Amino acid sequence: MTLNIERNKNLKEYNTFGIEAVAPYFCQIQSTEELQALFRNEQFKNMPLLVLGGGSNILFTRNPEGLVLLNKIGGISMVEEGEENVLVKVGGGVVWHEFVLNTIAQGLGGLENLSLIPGTVGAAPMQNIGAYGVEIKDTFHSLEAVNRTDGSLRTFRHADCQFGYRSSVFKTSERDKWVISHVTFSLHKKPQFNTTYGAIQQTLEERGISSLSLKAISDAVVHIRQSKLPDPKKIGNAGSFFKNPVIDAAHFTNLQQQYASIPSYPQENGIKVPAGWLIEQCGWKGYRRGNVGVNDKQALVLVNHGGAIGEEIRQLSEDIQASVKEKFGIELEAEVNFI
Ligand code: EPU
Repeated sequence: MTLNIERNKNLKEYNTFGIEAVAPYFCQIQSTEELQALFRNEQFKNMPLLVLGGGSNILFTRNPEGLVLLNKIGGISMVEEGEENVLVKVGGGVVWHEFVLNTIAQGLGGLENLSLIPGTVGAAPMQNIGAYGVEIKDTFHSLEAVNRTDGSLRTFRHADCQFGYRSSVFKTSERDKWVISHVTFSLHKKPQFNTTYGAIQQTLEERGISSLSLKAISDAVVHIRQSKLPDPKKIGNAGSFFKNPVIDAAHFTNLQQQYASIPSYPQENGIKVPAGWLIEQCGWKGYRRGNVGVNDKQALVLVNHGGAIGEEIRQLSEDIQASVKEKFGIELEAEVNFI
C-alpha cells in the first residue's frame, strides 16, 4: 500500500483558529487499512503523532513534531435495524454536521440538537461533544479504533469509553493510544425531542413553530449557534475555549450572596457555572488585544482576528484565567487542546 506522505505541510487551513504551523510529515488517511499500514510502517510507527479531524479544538503554540495525520475515512451506512432504533456506522473523517443532516433527512432522531458543531465524527466521542441538553453519549453505540503501536483494531463499547462532561477515556487513560476509524450510533426511528434548553424553546416560539420535527429543532439550533458563535471560516476560533467549571455548594452560596444573578446548573458533583458569564463579569467580553480577542456575543470564545500566533491566544487565555481566579476563586480549565 502506498501512503501519500507530504513534507513540511502548512497547517493553517487545517485548524479553525487559522494559526500558522508546519507539520514535518503529513498524511491524509482514507481507510482503516491505510491507518493500519501506517502504524506498521518502520519509519512511522515510532514517530510522534498528532491526529487532526476538523482541527476545531486545537491551538498550535509551536510546530508539531513528527507525523500529522488527517482522518478522511468516509462512509455512512445503516448496519442494523431494530423495532425502535437503527444502528448507523460512520467513517471518522466524515464532517459532523454533514452526518447530522444526513440522519435528519433519513428521519432518524437523536443528533438534531448537536447540529452545526464543528469537527469530524471521529473526534466527537473523544470529548463527548454536547450542546443544548444533549451529548454524544446519549446515542453512542460503539466505535472502532486502530492501535497506534501495532495497528490492531479494537471495538470500544459504550462503557469502555467512560464518557463524562467533555471527556472520555481517549482524553485520559487511553490518551494518544488510538485513532478512531468508525463510530456507530443508535438512532431513534421515533424521535424523542429534547427542547428543555431555554434558547431552543424561545427560538421555536419566535419562529411560530408549534409542531416539532427534527428539521425544526436542527434549524433552531443552527440559528442559535450562528447568532452567538463566530463562523471559523470568517474569524478564527475553536468554539468554547474553557470548560464550564463545577464548584461546590458552599462556594456557590458564597458567590450568590455577592452576585445574585449568577447562573447555575446543579450537577451530581456540585454546581456548574457558565464560564462565559464569569469571563463577561471580569470585563473581557468584546476585548481586543492586537490580533486576538474575546468574542463580543459569547465570552467563552477566544478569537484570532487574523495573523495571530498561538502564543498570543495562550497569553490571553492565561490572563482570563487569572482574573476569574482572582474575582471568583474559580480555576477555569481549557477545553481546547494545546500543542
Ligand atoms: N453567559 C454570559 N455571557 C456570555 C456567555 C454566556 O453571561 O458571554 C451565560 C448566560 O447566562 C447564558 C449561559 O452563560 O445563559 C450559558 O451560555 P450558552 O448557552 O452560550 O452555553 P455555554 O455554557 O457558554 C455550552 C457549551 C457549548 C454549547 C452550549 C449550548 C461548554 C464548554 N460549552 O456553552 O459548546 O454549544 O453550551 O449547549 O460546555 C463548545 O464546546 O465548543 C461549545 C460551543
